[in-house]
Amino acid sequence: MKKPIFMKYVQLLIISFLMFNTTTILIYGSNVNQIEKELPPPLNIDMILEETIFRRMSVREFTDNPVSDEELSTILWAAFGLREDGKHTISKINNTHAAIIYVINEEAAYKYNPENHSLVIFKEGDFRGNLVRIQYDAPYQIGLCWDADKADPNQGGVELGQIGQNIQFMANALNLGTVVTGEIPPAIERLGLPDNEQGLILMPLGYPAIQYDFIDRPMWISLLPKIKLSVNSLTYSLENLNENENINGDLTDQEISQIIWSSYGFSNYIDNSEQEPVHLRRHRTVPSAHGYYPFEIYVITDEGIFRYYHNILIDIISKYFPVLNSPVDFFGLPIITFLSKVKTGDFREEIAEITSEPNINDAPLIIIPVLNLENAKELSIESAIRFWFYEAGASAHNIMLESTALDLSSRIIYPINSDSINNVLELNENYIPSLIIAVGK
Ligand SMILES: Cc1cc2nc3c(=O)[nH]c(=O)nc-3n(C[C@H](O)[C@H](O)[C@H](O)COP(=O)(O)O)c2cc1C
Repeated sequence: MKKPIFMKYVQLLIISFLMFNTTTILIYGSNVNQIEKELPPPLNIDMILEETIFRRMSVREFTDNPVSDEELSTILWAAFGLREDGKHTISKINNTHAAIIYVINEEAAYKYNPENHSLVIFKEGDFRGNLVRIQYDAPYQIGLCWDADKADPNQGGVELGQIGQNIQFMANALNLGTVVTGEIPPAIERLGLPDNEQGLILMPLGYPAIQYDFIDRPMWISLLPKIKLSVNSLTYSLENLNENENINGDLTDQEISQIIWSSYGFSNYIDNSEQEPVHLRRHRTVPSAHGYYPFEIYVITDEGIFRYYHNILIDIISKYFPVLNSPVDFFGLPIITFLSKVKTGDFREEIAEITSEPNINDAPLIIIPVLNLENAKELSIESAIRFWFYEAGASAHNIMLESTALDLSSRIIYPINSDSINNVLELNENYIPSLIIAVGK
C-alpha cells in the first residue's frame, strides 16, 4: 500500500529527530571526559642523571616557540608515566598513588592518563590566562593535584614533589624550562576541579627566553668525595627505580657522598644565564619556596647521627646579611661541605622500630630531611606545610634516582611518629621529620 506523501515527511522528520538526538547523546554521553588525544612514544633521552641534577634551575620567561607533542610526551612519561613493569616513575607514598596531572594549552585543559599515555579532554578552551601571573606565560601550564580520598595534604605534597622533579629534570634535558609555582589557594583550582581533587602546584612549560649557560666549576672543598657523573641516565633511573623491602650491605665513601649531595646539595655548575627576575649563580638539587631551603638533612649510619652542611659559606652569609633573605648562592661560591656528628652510636634499630620497618635495621645509610619551622618563616602556617612536604618529596626522590643510577637500592618511608624520631635526633617540636629514606644494596 502506498503511503501518503505527508506521512513520508512525518517519518523522515521522526527519523532525523531521532538521529540528531542519538548523535547528541553520543557526543555528550561520552562527555568530553572520554575524548582522548594519544601521545606519541616518549623520546629516548640519554643525559647522565647527575648532569640533569647539575642543570636543575627555575625558568620564568618563555618564548612562543611551540613544545612538540614528542617533547610533551617525554615529560609526562617522566612525570608519572607507566613503565614496562606496570609501575610508575615515582615511589608510592604509604603504598598509594594519589597524583593527578592537568595539562593546559591554547586548545583545552586535559588530564594526563598514564594507563594508555594519553590526554583526556577536561574542558575545551584556553584557560591559561585564568591561571597564571603574566611573567609565567608559556605554551603549556602543568597543574599538579592529588586525590584527597587517597592521601592527606602532606602525602599528596610528597608525591607531587617527586613528579615536579621529574618534570623539571626532563624539561631541562630537552632544553625546555619550567618553574614550580605555589599559591594559596592553588592556581590550578581556578580550573574548577572535581570535589575529591585538591591542587597544589602549577608549572609553566616552554622554551626559555634566556638560553641555559652553564660552566662546570665545582670548587669543592670537603672531606666528602667530589660529585662525579655516573654512567647512567635520568631515563635509566626512571625505568629502574625500585622500592626495595630489604636494604643492607656496605657503601663506598663516593656513593655516600653522591647520595647525600643529591638530597639538598649545590650544583657543580655555575649558571651564567642571568635569568629574570632572580639570578642565582649556583643552584641546588631541589627547588624551594621563596628560596628558603628550611630543611636540615640528618644522616644515620652504623657510626652515629650526622647533620649534613651543604655549604657553610652560604649559611654564614645568610646569617650575617639577612637582607639576602634566603640561603641561596648569588655569587657562585666554593662549596664547603661536611657532615657534623650529632651523636655517636648505632641508632638504626631504634629508627626501624619507631617506623615499624624492621627491614631497615641494617641499611648502611638512612637520610631524614627535617623541616626547621623557624627557617620556614611566614610559611610555617598549617596551610603551607604541604609545600614543604613537596620539597621533602623532591629531595627523597633525588635520593632514589641517584641510588638507582649507582645501581643501589632505596626506599622512602612516611614517618608515623614524628616525636619519637625527634627524640632520637635530639630535636624539639619546632622540627618536623618529613620522610625517612633508607639506602643500601
Ligand atoms: C613549593 C614551591 C613553590 C614555589 N613557588 C614559586 C612561585 O610561586 N613563584 C616563583 O617564581 N618561584 C616559586 N618557586 C621556585 C623557587 O623560588 C626557586 O626554586 C628558588 O628560588 C631557587 O631557585 P632555583 O630553582 O632557580 O634554583 C617555588 C618552589 C617550590 C618548591
